[in-house]
Amino acid sequence: MKRSVTASAPGKLMLFGEHAVVYGHPCIVTAVDQRVRVTVDVNGIGELHVTAPQVGLEEYCKKIGVLGEQDVPKQVHFIEQVVANFYKRFDLNEGIRVTTESDFLASFGFGSSAAVTVALGKVLSEYFGKHLSDQELFEMSLAAVRDVQGVGSGFDVAAAVYGGTLYYVTPGKKIEKVSNGHLPLVVGYTGVKADTPTLVRQVAELRRVKNGFVDEVFDEIAEVVEEARSGFENHNFLKLGKLMRRNQKLLGELRVSSIELDRLIKACESVGAHGAKLSGAGGGDCMISIHPSDDKHQVVRAVEGAGGEVVSVGFGAEGVRLE
Ligand code: MEV
Repeated sequence: MKRSVTASAPGKLMLFGEHAVVYGHPCIVTAVDQRVRVTVDVNGIGELHVTAPQVGLEEYCKKIGVLGEQDVPKQVHFIEQVVANFYKRFDLNEGIRVTTESDFLASFGFGSSAAVTVALGKVLSEYFGKHLSDQELFEMSLAAVRDVQGVGSGFDVAAAVYGGTLYYVTPGKKIEKVSNGHLPLVVGYTGVKADTPTLVRQVAELRRVKNGFVDEVFDEIAEVVEEARSGFENHNFLKLGKLMRRNQKLLGELRVSSIELDRLIKACESVGAHGAKLSGAGGGDCMISIHPSDDKHQVVRAVEGAGGEVVSVGFGAEGVRLE
């Protein structure tokens, strides 16, 4: 058994199909080149110890026998759940120390929970010599995310495991690479933290009272995703921009946009971006904009001028890997 193992997994950005993906429709997601690294070391005292300074957690410990029980602080929820599930599945009881380190702020909505979950699953698999396949790692990580959050289509888990830009149908029914090329996108952070489970429940409530209408919106979003898939395959960024506008209008009908998101989106479109939309659950977090290849600086200035923060990231990043 190895004594210290590190793995890293990328964050993600939803490109098309958010919310509809929760109801079985496809979406398109890209992995971003900001990563979470997780290290597991030996800790011989029958306890789980966790250090996660980027979320303000200097030292946390819990007896292996009671993992997942009693109060679990928010910052350590995903980590403890992954370890508890893994130990139960393989009947383990050895003490370990888990240390995490992240390139990005959790507040951007880049999926740090999914990235931590996947990187930790990979490390445990290697540390204990279990050699899980990507498919097994995906399934185990999605189960842990759902144990903690209760909701989630798993698109973020797929991006963390497989990387690249993916066409995804929940719960991993389809995971297919759609593009490996450059994407001329600008990402703008609104400064407002979004709460995904709350927004997912809000859409569920809207669907309960306006059932037929919301399902029609989902069907149209699914059409947008199918067209976008061919847009990525042909590198047709003008078409992708038009589809972003259409997707954003549909998300507005689901009432998940916000004043801040609308302001940044409008600013990008007013300086010649092909299109823009919110990315993720909505209510805050980030928007994305696709632009003609020589127009990036204008779009960047537009986002900043409208009060947003431009987040510099690369797209289509590599999935989980041992470091
Ligand atoms: C959140 O980033 C995207 C949603 O579709 C939720 C999910 O897919 O789990 C709103």
